[in-house]
Amino acid sequence: MRVMVTGGAGYIGSVVTEELLKGGDEAVVYDSLYKGHREAVVEGATFVKGDLLDTAFLRDTLVKHRIEAVVHMAADSLVGESVKEPAKYFRNNVLGGLSLLDAMREAKVSSLVFSSTAAVYGEPAKQPIEESDPTEPTNPYGETKLAFERALRWYEGAYGVRFVSLRYFNAAGATERCGERHHPETHLIPLVLQAAAGERPDITVFGEDYATPDGTCVRDYIHVVDLAQAHVLALHALAKGHPSAIYNLGCGGEGYSVKQVIDCARRVTQRDIPVRVGARRPGDPAVLIASSSRIMRELGWRPQQQQLEAIVASAWRWMQRPRA
Ligand code: UFG
Repeated sequence: MRVMVTGGAGYIGSVVTEELLKGGDEAVVYDSLYKGHREAVVEGATFVKGDLLDTAFLRDTLVKHRIEAVVHMAADSLVGESVKEPAKYFRNNVLGGLSLLDAMREAKVSSLVFSSTAAVYGEPAKQPIEESDPTEPTNPYGETKLAFERALRWYEGAYGVRFVSLRYFNAAGATERCGERHHPETHLIPLVLQAAAGERPDITVFGEDYATPDGTCVRDYIHVVDLAQAHVLALHALAKGHPSAIYNLGCGGEGYSVKQVIDCARRVTQRDIPVRVGARRPGDPAVLIASSSRIMRELGWRPQQQQLEAIVASAWRWMQRPRA
């Protein structure tokens, strides 16, 4: 299948591209490089530099490369920033997404896999979270992802676009070639590993007075390769006529607390990691655990690397890789 990956020069997008190529699909990466990195575009993929808001260029790209399906990952994704700059998030995540849907209609491409987020649930009333639970985002980031999911429903009825929306929990880890490199970095695992590598003096734990076993927030970490494989499964299911669907993507179980992540990183790296305890980060729910039984049941998805050690070790290997 010929697939266009928007945001394919980003962390998760590059791993999705890798998995597509590994499985014999062809990939065209469409990325503005405003956050992505040119060198993250996987060898073997065609790279097109373009803006999501440029509907005509998107349409021409879809037609020129005879694209059959799209994975849409290009988005702004920082919760804190979204609260300060909602206009940026509504423009890039909602308007940008609608521009893509217009281009797809014009080019007659009707399959889409969308990267959504656990942030659509807001402060969940129960764990694990199921797809049918209430969606009440507590920040513009989650709101814009939910808005696009809702648009997809209406576009399906009117224009026949079929989609799978994947609500990611905490993506982490790396492959040999692709890993996490955000500027600024805000995610726990890369920050903890930077502290282990001496690239930052310490890691600040954002609150240790939550109603969790050790007082720190609990999250559902999922290996980026397991996450990427779900996109490939979804694309192939859509090609075979699978109806539109929304799926959570996490490993479930008990999850891991911030302190457990730091202890795990100490074991993996064999380094000292100085810790400071700071205030809670506004908007952080105490616990976020996915029920992913729907995607397991309907698409046969099975995470292969559920152990936090394996996830952290892969990220550490990537950080320590020899660089040119
Ligand atoms: N944390 C710290 N110190 C840090 C960074 C993070 O203690 O320096 C804590 C956070 O408070 C949180 C946990 O580590 O409890 C994980 O934080 P991340 O920033 O790595 O991830 P989040 O759970 O905040 O974010 C994830 C996705 C977002 C998504 C969000 C939904 O990365 O895209 O879940 O709430 F929006």
